[in-house]
Amino acid sequence: MSALTVLAIETSCDETAAAVMRGDELLSSEVASQIALHALTGGVVPEVASRNHLRTLRPVIASALAKAGVTAGEIDVFAATRGPGLATSLMIGLSAAKGMAMGFRKPFAAVNHIEAHLLSPFFGRGGVRPAIGLVVSGGHTMLVEIEAVGKYRLLGKTCDDAAGEAFDKVGKLLGLPYPGGPNVNRLACEGNAMRFDFPRSMLSSGDFAFSFSGLKTSVRYLLQKMDTVPVADVCASFQEAVVDVLVDKTVRAALTTRRKTIAVSGGVSCNSRLREKLSAACSARGIELLLAEPSLCTDNAAMIAYAASLRADAGHANDLAEDIDPNLRLAV
Ligand code: KG4
Ligand code: ZN
Repeated sequence: MSALTVLAIETSCDETAAAVMRGDELLSSEVASQIALHALTGGVVPEVASRNHLRTLRPVIASALAKAGVTAGEIDVFAATRGPGLATSLMIGLSAAKGMAMGFRKPFAAVNHIEAHLLSPFFGRGGVRPAIGLVVSGGHTMLVEIEAVGKYRLLGKTCDDAAGEAFDKVGKLLGLPYPGGPNVNRLACEGNAMRFDFPRSMLSSGDFAFSFSGLKTSVRYLLQKMDTVPVADVCASFQEAVVDVLVDKTVRAALTTRRKTIAVSGGVSCNSRLREKLSAACSARGIELLLAEPSLCTDNAAMIAYAASLRADAGHANDLAEDIDPNLRLAV
């Protein structure tokens, strides 16, 4: 990897993040979470998120540069997330990075947030190589066959809710604090995963598509029937149903395509039960499992810097004409 110094900015949803990477060394990664702000409304209100990005972005960038011991004038490439995400949030980070690139007369790299998640498990682990990528976040659930950087084949994705969205909705149904995912995971550790037999949707569909909205509805119906809710058991049983389908389809994708590596990314890849079951399934079949460390699983700018460096290495690094695209897809 070349030794370019990249400053990356991520503001696609509710985290204001900046990171500095030189070659394959991460010099700093700052994330200012808006969780406390959005907990008040039980979810992200786009205008609130964008106003907060505006307030927070400059200090976050300053802190990323200071921790890296680098000045803005020493940056070779300025990068930002272009999409997908909330338009009013994306605009703030993209405009800031473009403005800095123009001011310092350096290239600007526009990064696809899904591609950045997809590639993040390879960081610090020998670089990108052929693999099956599972992206499981609040907005996406997809299985992708990775050939090389920029060469992807979509095997399947969710037909309705993303896995993280299902965790967040079930957390809300149970009255847990926002965001539901980490709270459901925490309570599930004390619960009985066999207590409720929730559906494993599309487990036998024979393809790599997912569906989680029926599972969320099953949880809602169950809760309506109960006076006292055994919260930990509901969390554990729900989590087990999500994890079973994710693990089964991901391992099957690797076996079908004869890929020997599985790379898992996105916020839901922090889930302890998913990590545990995937590790067991992969080691039983001699498959290498790449899991990003938890701070690189949820939204962060280090993954944006890594994707920008890989793109710069492949010769794409001046995208000043690129605008935000809230509905951007992975190019497959
Ligand atoms: O990747 P991410 O930060 O943002 C998106 O691009 O969507 O993912 C956020 C999602 C949320 O739905 C959150 O509840 C979920 O990841 N999440 C988890 C856990 N930690 C975060 N879901 C289950 N278990 C966790 N430990
Ligand atoms: Zn994300």
